[in-house]
Amino acid sequence: MAVKPAVKKRVKQLRSEIEEHNRRYFVDADPVIPDVEYDALMDELRALEEANPELRSPDSPTMRVGERPSEGFAQVEHSAPMLSLDNTYNAEDLRDFDERVRKLIDLDTVPYVAELKLDGVGLALRYEQGRLVLAATRGNGRTGDDVTRNAETIDTVPKMLRGDGRHAPVVEVRGEVYLTYEGLAQMNEGQEERGDRIFANPRNTAAGTLKMLDTSVVATRPLQFVPFQLLFPERHGVLSQWKALAYLREATFTIPPHSRLCTRGIEEVIATVEELQNLRDSLPFGTDGVVVKVNEFEWYDSLGTTSKSPRWGIAYKFPAERKTTRVESIFLSVGRTGAVTPIAFVEPVGLAGTVVRRASLHNADEVARKDVREGDTVWIEKSGDIIPYIVGVVKEERPKSAKKFVMPDVCPVCGEALDRPDEEVVTRCINPSCAAQVRGRMIHFASRNAMDIDGLGAKVVDTLVTEGFAKSIADVYRLKHEDIVNLERFAEKSADNLIAGIDASRNRPLDRFLHALGIRHVGRTVAELLAGAFGTLEALRKADVESVAAVEGIGPVIADSVVHFFSSEGGRALLDDLLAAGVAPAPVVRGESVDGALSGKRLVLTGTLPTWKRSEAKRAIEGAGGKVVSGVSKATDYVVAGESPGSKLAKAEKLGIPVLGEGELMELIAGGGA
Ligand code: IVH
Repeated sequence: MAVKPAVKKRVKQLRSEIEEHNRRYFVDADPVIPDVEYDALMDELRALEEANPELRSPDSPTMRVGERPSEGFAQVEHSAPMLSLDNTYNAEDLRDFDERVRKLIDLDTVPYVAELKLDGVGLALRYEQGRLVLAATRGNGRTGDDVTRNAETIDTVPKMLRGDGRHAPVVEVRGEVYLTYEGLAQMNEGQEERGDRIFANPRNTAAGTLKMLDTSVVATRPLQFVPFQLLFPERHGVLSQWKALAYLREATFTIPPHSRLCTRGIEEVIATVEELQNLRDSLPFGTDGVVVKVNEFEWYDSLGTTSKSPRWGIAYKFPAERKTTRVESIFLSVGRTGAVTPIAFVEPVGLAGTVVRRASLHNADEVARKDVREGDTVWIEKSGDIIPYIVGVVKEERPKSAKKFVMPDVCPVCGEALDRPDEEVVTRCINPSCAAQVRGRMIHFASRNAMDIDGLGAKVVDTLVTEGFAKSIADVYRLKHEDIVNLERFAEKSADNLIAGIDASRNRPLDRFLHALGIRHVGRTVAELLAGAFGTLEALRKADVESVAAVEGIGPVIADSVVHFFSSEGGRALLDDLLAAGVAPAPVVRGESVDGALSGKRLVLTGTLPTWKRSEAKRAIEGAGGKVVSGVSKATDYVVAGESPGSKLAKAEKLGIPVLGEGELMELIAGGGA
């Protein structure tokens, strides 16, 4: 079935609305909607594109890496705008580029440097007296986020340049932060263990990681950096891009591998581009093309710059990678919301750096439209998105016996009837006790962004569900040491650890709890808005649609879903059961003071806390009646210090103000007094 016109229309409308907001934000610096509303538009567009892959488009705002300044980072102005390059897709375009260059600088043969275009996110570094003092993201090109502390955790970002004394007082370098395929796989092992979501796309993961507020998490992720531009090269007596790369290598940077100097002009460049394209499969990182740069800097001024990009360079983009493979089987996966997704298991095939074994077919309509059958030979592509998808079937190679795919009437896991409302593309299992749904909900509930239960990852959940120890989320809170110690993969210590992890999650803040419940349309952002507006679970349970919809950033569809959950029999039973099992989400309080362990106290936070994010610590303090202030003075009651505290700690010590660690703060809040 084709995409419904209403869906197409909505996608178009969302794209143009988002573009308009981007323009207001970036060009006019005058945004007209709050970030949460912007995020909601993006979320809606992403969901529609995911459900209707045929509507995906490289021009969609969802395909661009988020470039809004993030809360929590200082903004820094770039010493020169961070521009991008024009793209080309074929050799002819490269010849045109060369012709323009030759005309402008009046040369017969122009030497070029060809470098791999690493698929990551730009980063600007500033060194003073050889020491790294600033790292900033590209941001809107003029100002970016100060991510120095995060950049310091990257091994391939030198903290000190080699060649002490040989460098000009200020050295500015731009380059790309990226993740290798292996780095991503390594991260995903950990994610899977903890039951957290799997990262599919190295570029987005690198971009997201660089903008994390918690530097200790960034430090665990294997980000890499390659430099590709030395700013103000004249300060260093460097006259060409090729020499700039040598200078950077000498200073201990790892320069883009396979960079080439092509002195014989554009035909040599074209041959090099082809060579690099053939290498692509064997590279350990994602690359989406080759950047071609005029080598001699003396021409850069006369070549000039358009409003968006310099004329001294161009990016040749590789075509999306495509291979054929055979569909071994079509498997139906049942998710935590009951959505039944057909997934094609294919003969393993190497594609753009990873081995593809499966590709989502999204829904029954999609399978029917492409007419994918078990036994078919299919074309698989990885879009800019890195998620493999089936482009189409090679019909000539279809075995005679191949049968058309039919969505079954009953759930492949629990055997209950499946449902597909007329206006929806998704087929669902509507049995809330279906083991697949229970498993999915439990993994989500325990995941890091939700209740963050240490030790309760996918594999442990599987064991608990199959051994019959957990039929619902609430059962997790009734587990005893003796229940689990004899289970597969457990021993005395790991059983103790799991129980401790579960106990530690009983009083997570309300917003985490709401997110963990997996209510439709309630992600982290909406959960925070709800918790902020209602404060306690009791208040939210009593709320009607009007009062929920009155919360800024929450529309009628979300409000309906929330109220429906709290009034449904299943929702009520689940909450009562969780509360009875000893879960008590901590209230979230905005501004006004409450009676609690920290009533009337003023606290200052400094450094990175081991488990709480800053925002979480703030909420917990406010929930206990305290106030978080920014400066240390005699009026400060406590300073809470984490790793790498700033000058605030020294000041607290000087003024004799008690200093707490995270553990002591938690005890104080839980224990009800100093
Ligand atoms: S040179 C004026 N060289 O691709 C911008 N860029 O549009 C000069 N990139 O956003 C960029 N590898 O972040 C250059 N070897 C390379 C690159 C590279 C990746 C990124 C860069 C920029 C985009 C080019």
